[in-house]
Amino acid sequence: MSERKVAFVTGALGGIGSEICRQLVKANYKVIATVVPREEDREKQWLKSEGFQQEDVRFVLTDLTHHADATSAIEDAIQAEGRVDVLVNNAGITRDATFKKMSFEQWSQVIDTNLKTLFTVTHPVFNQMLEQKQGRIVNISSVNGLKGQFGQANYSAAKAGMIGFTKALAQEGARSNVCVNVVAPGYTATPMVTAMREEVVKSIEDQIPLQRLAQPEEIAAAVMYLVGEYGTYITGETLSINGGLYMQ
Ligand code: CAA
Repeated sequence: MSERKVAFVTGALGGIGSEICRQLVKANYKVIATVVPREEDREKQWLKSEGFQQEDVRFVLTDLTHHADATSAIEDAIQAEGRVDVLVNNAGITRDATFKKMSFEQWSQVIDTNLKTLFTVTHPVFNQMLEQKQGRIVNISSVNGLKGQFGQANYSAAKAGMIGFTKALAQEGARSNVCVNVVAPGYTATPMVTAMREEVVKSIEDQIPLQRLAQPEEIAAAVMYLVGEYGTYITGETLSINGGLYMQ
């Protein structure tokens, strides 16, 4: 059984995911980090560049959309650490297109990765948390799950689905002291956003009252608040970090 608190993060080397991992390790968590296997050894390089030790992060190389393989890899990691205190469902992709032009493949890839994998990851972790009688889950949704976005019918549907999932799970987890919340980032300075056409990014920036993109640190800090010592009485909530782009 790990002496340190254990946090489980999906999409762990992405723009926001890597910052969440960084802040968790700095707060002395052992992190179980899921990463889609690629040819280059991104994991070792990342540990080295951060100055972290091998024992700080257990990488689980798995494609979460392959349900059976991913489930067994996740269960092995939980068993090896003996506990999970925090889960951050962060893995996500975009396949933007106007709905008129959207293919079924673009629709399915986003629903499969951003929504269906919530079951694959959360089911084993949530059950462990119920047994422990404590846990915090943070689901990373998006401003576009709240307001909808031109060109993102697939992504907006998946990210809105995460919010309903969160509210249901928050009700089921409460009696076991498991809190479940959403962080809904706005447009954040990550490769996902900078991959958009320059004029599209510019037109979005022009709509943001704070007149800039978010930094990944600002999103990760909200996650740390929800999983930290003062996040004990918040559950089923959606915390927007969007520079005022959408006010509910
Ligand atoms: N509202 C209304 N009309 C719009 C519009 C908007 N927001 N955006 C574009 N249009 C109009 C255009 O003016 C254009 O009109 P005309 O045909 O009259 O010229 C028409 O719709 C087609 O637009 P595009 O030329 O942009 O169409 P396209 O097929 O080349 O590109 C697209 C479509 C890829 C979806 C592109 O519009 C785009 O990238 N949009 C932004 C999508 C976006 O915000 N993605 C977020 C990614 S980051 C992320 O998802 C992280 C997060 O959580 C925030």
